[in-house]
Amino acid sequence: MKHSDNAVTSVDDDTPLAREIADLRARRRALDDVHVRLPSGTRTLTVSNQKGGVGKTTTTVNIAAALAGVGARVLVIDLDPQGNASTALGVPHTADVPSVYDVLIDEFPLADIVQTSPESPLLTCAPSTIHLAGAEIELVSHVAREHRLRRALDEYLASTPEPPHVVLIDCPPSLGLLTINAFTAASEVLIPIQCEYYALEGLSQLLGSVQMIQKHLNPPLHVSTILLTMYDGRTRLAQQVAEEVREHFPQQVLGTVIPRSVRVSEAPSFGQTVIAYDGQSAGAVAYREAAVELLARSDHDDADDGESTNEGES
Ligand SMILES: Nc1ncnc2c1ncn2[C@@H]1O[C@H](COP(=O)(O)OP(=O)(O)OP(=O)(O)O)[C@@H](O)[C@H]1O
Ligand SMILES: [Mg+2]
Repeated sequence: MKHSDNAVTSVDDDTPLAREIADLRARRRALDDVHVRLPSGTRTLTVSNQKGGVGKTTTTVNIAAALAGVGARVLVIDLDPQGNASTALGVPHTADVPSVYDVLIDEFPLADIVQTSPESPLLTCAPSTIHLAGAEIELVSHVAREHRLRRALDEYLASTPEPPHVVLIDCPPSLGLLTINAFTAASEVLIPIQCEYYALEGLSQLLGSVQMIQKHLNPPLHVSTILLTMYDGRTRLAQQVAEEVREHFPQQVLGTVIPRSVRVSEAPSFGQTVIAYDGQSAGAVAYREAAVELLARSDHDDADDGESTNEGES
């Protein structure tokens, strides 16, 4: 949907609504002109929080689509048996489709199951199917049960002619073996935090798990990024949660905050990310800004000289 910028010029500039519209317009313009540097290697981030419904999947697919929109090759690994990330990326994931289950349990190469999202040739997805629901238990008796995703991903990255710039792993809301496989395969953890009651509840348990994996299984693993989601600036509570999280994690929290937005929640029912569904909406603009910020904060210092603009974006 194209917003009519002219229509708002007659609105009294002093109303909150007019200010909000002018602000969004300026942010869209800034995004249209943005230049990003893509990492020369592959950044692997797991999007994790054992709390349910905090925006893990929404963040995974929308950051992924926004990254593809600025020219990055992106692989989303859907590690949640619910398969919501596969749905939002428009990728088939019925029970008969080869999926992450086959990779983890039967050692299928990741290349055999990766599909391209209809949204962009740069956006790929390793889908989840309902079979993954059993994997948590089946994995217990398998050799190297914590490393199976890591091995598959390493092999994929080494054998793919054009490896992804960014891999994003969408985790289920638990700290079981699937999430441990994600922690072992990634080097960065991205934690979405919902600006609601009990936002910080369980966070110390999550950070403890990251620390344990770092110590015993995957030394490079660290919490690189925290994203505040479903922010409703009209409530004092959301402001308080945001302040508190920033106080505790000043380095990790992105400046961009994702607003609560109907467009964001509607998009998956069309098998789309909000970037494709309504790329100019406030929620999409925020996810595009978060993606740009994520690239700028590359903690690898390995950005190559190949600059990319988002000319391909609508
Ligand atoms: N910014 C937002 N504005 C409005 N609704 C949102 C926003 N972000 C997420 N939602 C909605 O909140 C619900 C939970 O989001 P999501 O599925 O991304 O969370 P999750 O952490 O992946 O959940 P789970 O733990 O079940 O995997 C979904 O219905 C989603 O559409
Ligand atoms: Mg989810």
